[in-house]
Amino acid sequence: MKLTIIGTGYVGLVTGTCFAEAGHRVVCVDSNEDKVNVLKAGGMPIYEPGLAELVRKNVAAGRLHFTSSTPEGVEKSDVIFIAVPTPPLPDGAVDLSFIERVARDIAGAMTSYKIVVDKSTVPVKTGDKVAETIKRYCKAKVEFDVVSNPEFLREGFAVEDFMKPDRVVVGVRTPRPVAAMKQIYEPFDAPVLVTDINSAELIKHAANSFLALKISYINALSVVCEATGANVLEVANGIGLDARIGRRFLEAGLGFGGSCFPKDLSAFIKIAEQLGYDFRLLKEVQRINAEQMDRFVKKILDTMWVLKDKTIGVLGLAFKQNTDDVRLSPAIDLCQRLQKEGAKLRVHDPQAMEKAKAILTGVTYVEDMNAVAEGCDALVIATEWPEFKQLDLEKARAALTHPILFDGRNLFDLAEMEQLGFIYKSVGR
Ligand code: UDX
Repeated sequence: MKLTIIGTGYVGLVTGTCFAEAGHRVVCVDSNEDKVNVLKAGGMPIYEPGLAELVRKNVAAGRLHFTSSTPEGVEKSDVIFIAVPTPPLPDGAVDLSFIERVARDIAGAMTSYKIVVDKSTVPVKTGDKVAETIKRYCKAKVEFDVVSNPEFLREGFAVEDFMKPDRVVVGVRTPRPVAAMKQIYEPFDAPVLVTDINSAELIKHAANSFLALKISYINALSVVCEATGANVLEVANGIGLDARIGRRFLEAGLGFGGSCFPKDLSAFIKIAEQLGYDFRLLKEVQRINAEQMDRFVKKILDTMWVLKDKTIGVLGLAFKQNTDDVRLSPAIDLCQRLQKEGAKLRVHDPQAMEKAKAILTGVTYVEDMNAVAEGCDALVIATEWPEFKQLDLEKARAALTHPILFDGRNLFDLAEMEQLGFIYKSVGR
């Protein structure tokens, strides 16, 4: 089918590219001309494993095109996906101005029936607003349908998640667009759940809030584990083997960050509040998440006593593994707190150093992870990159003035670290 994706951020670019890979003809639109030029020239504005290769392959095959013109995108396809940012406002509510702008642009360019699909994460009832807006601004007065089709992509695994989804949610206001939506997703071999549009919009916020809740639950358990000498990894395995609970998203650590969970949680609390419900459970999820970082910083201070003029090596800057994204990264937050205590930092991340440089200044960026410990008083693991498990621990121990390692991601075995002579402090163990 012919599809247009408006917005080439993480979600839009992955969506457009994977649709092209599945055989559809795709036009990706972005108002940022520089970005469009980078993509046209074969460059990539973001790091996402496997994406660059797929973009190149599908551009070469003539199935994937880029343009900065919304009218061109609207004209070329019958189905238009909206994948623009929905950033948080200062009060936690969602800024829908990009969505509104795009709805007006689409309306202005429509001359025949279109299916307008929202992929961005939006508050429940946004679909109705999009429909009203299109109706108001569509000069040609043609028919259209608005659909909600939320994304469930994890950064770092976005291509994999898109190509092999657990489920595809399609929220509609009328049955008319259902057949086309099913056809679009047919190559992906996933259950398509067709719902009313309000339910589809809610599913997105409800899913992310539940996952955040799961993380806060294990982080709260990590506190109890530390107080009792239990091991949170054993507890996670023990409860996770119950199929009703599941082992995934039970990694205790520095708390969740990134551009989705914190924002979606605040938004969902705000949406509930506007509907007259005080979602105290989710407020507690936020509180536990914030406290988790406070406790880790305290752990470092309790051991090191004074950080002024000490040098700390930090491994990890991205908000999680497999991404160069540092937005609301717990690792960056941790670095800034250590700096505030007067520590000098030597930092490394396999992918995120370039992006980190814009927000984390006054630190030494180190290219080789095995060189970070040189001249440091302690080492900190802040992101769960799998390559950190390959760290040359003997070399690190020799390079540190004292063999102290704070592991915010529980990457190493307790007995092994003891054997190697480390003072090793992790989370919930
Ligand atoms: C999330 C959702 O998983 C995805 O479905 C949604 O569409 C967008 O938001 P993402 O933000 O890319 O994806 O990352 P995710 O892998 O979910 O991790 C989010 C944060 O939680 C990270 O900071 C990660 O380190 C943390 N996390 C995750 C934990 O602390 N423990 C866990 O067990 C899992």
